[in-house]
Amino acid sequence: MKATILPEKKDHFPVLLTELLSIISPQYGGTFIDCTFGQAGYTKKILEFPKTKIIALDRDIQCERIAELVSSKFENRFLFKNLRFSQLTNLKLKKENIRGVFFDLGYSINQIKDKKKGLSFDHSGKLNMQMGLNDFSAHEVINKLDKVELTKIFKFFGEEKESKKIASNILKERKKKLLETQDLVKIINYSKKNKYSKINNSTKIFQALRIFVNKEISELIDGLIGASKILKKDGVLAVVTFHSIEDKIVKYFFKSLAEKKSISRYMPSIKEDDTIFKLEKKKPILPSKEEIFINPPSRSAKLRYVIKKKDIFEFKTDIRDKFKNLLEIEDFSKKL
Ligand SMILES: C[S@@+](CC[C@H](N)C(=O)[O-])C[C@H]1O[C@@H](n2cnc3c(N)ncnc32)[C@H](O)[C@@H]1O
Repeated sequence: MKATILPEKKDHFPVLLTELLSIISPQYGGTFIDCTFGQAGYTKKILEFPKTKIIALDRDIQCERIAELVSSKFENRFLFKNLRFSQLTNLKLKKENIRGVFFDLGYSINQIKDKKKGLSFDHSGKLNMQMGLNDFSAHEVINKLDKVELTKIFKFFGEEKESKKIASNILKERKKKLLETQDLVKIINYSKKNKYSKINNSTKIFQALRIFVNKEISELIDGLIGASKILKKDGVLAVVTFHSIEDKIVKYFFKSLAEKKSISRYMPSIKEDDTIFKLEKKKPILPSKEEIFINPPSRSAKLRYVIKKKDIFEFKTDIRDKFKNLLEIEDFSKKL
């Protein structure tokens, strides 16, 4: 058992870092794509291995500042692009031997602390929730979408039991004024039957809005497809998820492209030779007790990975059909 790598800074804890390193083996060198650069937790550690190169992306332009610092230290081995997962295949990578692509989903501590991003229910002012490169904000969602649409967003993206009541009260209150962050918090608090649950009353609704505003479902699906295309034979695709919707998508995608029997009735059975991934572990890797003690939010993290079996760059997947209901909810944004 390898010892958990402890964080360098008090406030930033790259989740499941030891476990990720043991999967991607940076000691052998090679090019890796960090799709969620954030505060460079993974990137900086990997670049400590001399023969590695990192291409990092993040939708948040604020990461550019940290990217400049990394770049000054590892000039020839690091490149940052302000892009979304769905733009992964825009990278010109034909000549690169990509040994690993990884995602650490969700948001960083810097983003939650940033009042302008309005991700936290503790903030005042307008709702926002845009992580970067977005088309609309949570302010428009709350003040413009109808009751059915809001109910579905809260129910399917937040798994909130009182979705309908909360949506109904939002519509009632917004007749009086445009709703801001603390108006929404008040509405959620007075709408909930069980006012004293273990988690904050607003957690699920705020999660739902963040997923909707950042189109996290299609971003993840497009990111997984893009990553699978650019990886070379024996390359590793690894994803750290933080909530059940993300984990379901990753689990299904990996399983469906690794099993020889099709797991969907919409797709014909796949011949063994046609499967593009090897799934070494069916169960996800979870943080150690030690990591959870140091960084409690890591308790919901799950790491899944697959290994690419051959150089196939085009393949069929039914992932969009499988999660059609969620993608249809995301499409409510076309009205905004
Ligand atoms: C949990 S943080 C990553 C932390 C990073 N692993 C570290 O150790 O510093 C997630 C990052 O992913 C970025 N992100 C989330 N969704 C994205 C998307 N669709 N495209 C690009 N970046 C995204 C966020 O902006 C955030 O900076």
